Amino acid sequence: MDKTWIPSSAVTRCNFRRLRFLTKVTNDVGRMTRGGRRWALLLIAMCLCLMMFYKLQPCAYDRNTTLMMPRENYMNAADKKVFRYDRYMPLIFIGGVPRSGTTLMRAMLDAHPDVRCGQETRVIPRILQMRQHWVKSPKEVTRLEEAGVTSQVINSAIAAFCLEVIAHHGEPAARLCNKDPLTLKSADYLSELFPEAKFIFMVRDGRATVHSIISRKVTITGFDLTNYRQCMKKWNDAISIMYEKCLSVGKSRCMLVYYEQLVLHPEDWLHRILNFLDLPWNASVLHHEEMINKPGGVSLSKTERSSDQVIKPVNLEALTKWVGQFPEDVIKEMDEIAPMLAKLGYDPNANPPTYGYPDAVVQDNTYKIKQESDKWKEKAEKLLLRTHVENLEKNKKDDDESSDNPANAA
Ligand SMILES: *[C@@H]1O[C@H](CO)[C@@H](O)[C@H](O)[C@H]1NC(C)=O
Repeated sequence: MDKTWIPSSAVTRCNFRRLRFLTKVTNDVGRMTRGGRRWALLLIAMCLCLMMFYKLQPCAYDRNTTLMMPRENYMNAADKKVFRYDRYMPLIFIGGVPRSGTTLMRAMLDAHPDVRCGQETRVIPRILQMRQHWVKSPKEVTRLEEAGVTSQVINSAIAAFCLEVIAHHGEPAARLCNKDPLTLKSADYLSELFPEAKFIFMVRDGRATVHSIISRKVTITGFDLTNYRQCMKKWNDAISIMYEKCLSVGKSRCMLVYYEQLVLHPEDWLHRILNFLDLPWNASVLHHEEMINKPGGVSLSKTERSSDQVIKPVNLEALTKWVGQFPEDVIKEMDEIAPMLAKLGYDPNANPPTYGYPDAVVQDNTYKIKQESDKWKEKAEKLLLRTHVENLEKNKKDDDESSDNPANAA
């Protein structure tokens, strides 16, 4: 005959203990007086009743049958359409080195009726950075594990944090999207947290990016805004990490989009991008400027540096502004300073390289914007209260300036 050991449940173990207690009490009852015996029998009867009552309930929380479950999350749109959100939804993450066209990209997607990206959240890169500090130290990891704070616990907490911020910092939408440029450095981790998420990696000629960072005084941790050579090196470091992460996430989930090509041929590239994101084509993505600050359209932040540019239709203004701005010695050693330029297909020795020939509509937009430059300046001021904000910023010292881009770019 086969004998098998079956682990006893917590409930049976509990009852066994009660039974032993009962036997002891019965033995003691034999040595009592008559009156005392009656009382003792009554006590035993009461105990039995209590036992019957407790038997119907588990004597402790059983790890196998008790769970912590969050309440269900959902968003309620104005027309009472309900969009449910969870970790397994197809989120869209847009990233790249700051000043590489990430705002243009998200504005174009914001113009799509199914998508909402919204402004930079700033807190998502921060929490990702914080978690990196935690897991970098083996000592800290041990302490956390000992406290029951396993990587699984941390991951689900961080996923919930990101999800709550993404879901609630803007209007409800069928497809939610996030643009905090430097989060692309965590593309591998984010792809783990959100297994259905896709990534758009904006790549731009590093010389244009650096010139824009310096001329617009965009403070990024690690970038010395007085030094073109140092900034080119930092651009090279940041973009090589992002490039690696994008490759490791894979082509099916991370798409590399060249800013220059998006600007020269918006229609062709937007078709490819929407295809990649499994979104139906809608021509409103070609006219993001018509959707600025409209319901279901493109919400802009008064404090983001690129807001005044993204109110204009797609144009060529920003492609070659950098030419003639770099120190001669940096131009000469460009390939050594920033090898990622050549790796990404930009000729490091051409000033400027030929990026390509624009679609007629883009050429036309650019010409019109040049003709009406005063109108656009006024529009920017009105829409973004730019002068007001700039005055505020001038009054402050550099103490909060390090916060243009919260995550570390090193
Ligand atoms: C495209 O989007 C607009 C709103 O942005 C909507 O009114 C229109 O119906 C959409 N077109 C198609 C073909 O879905």
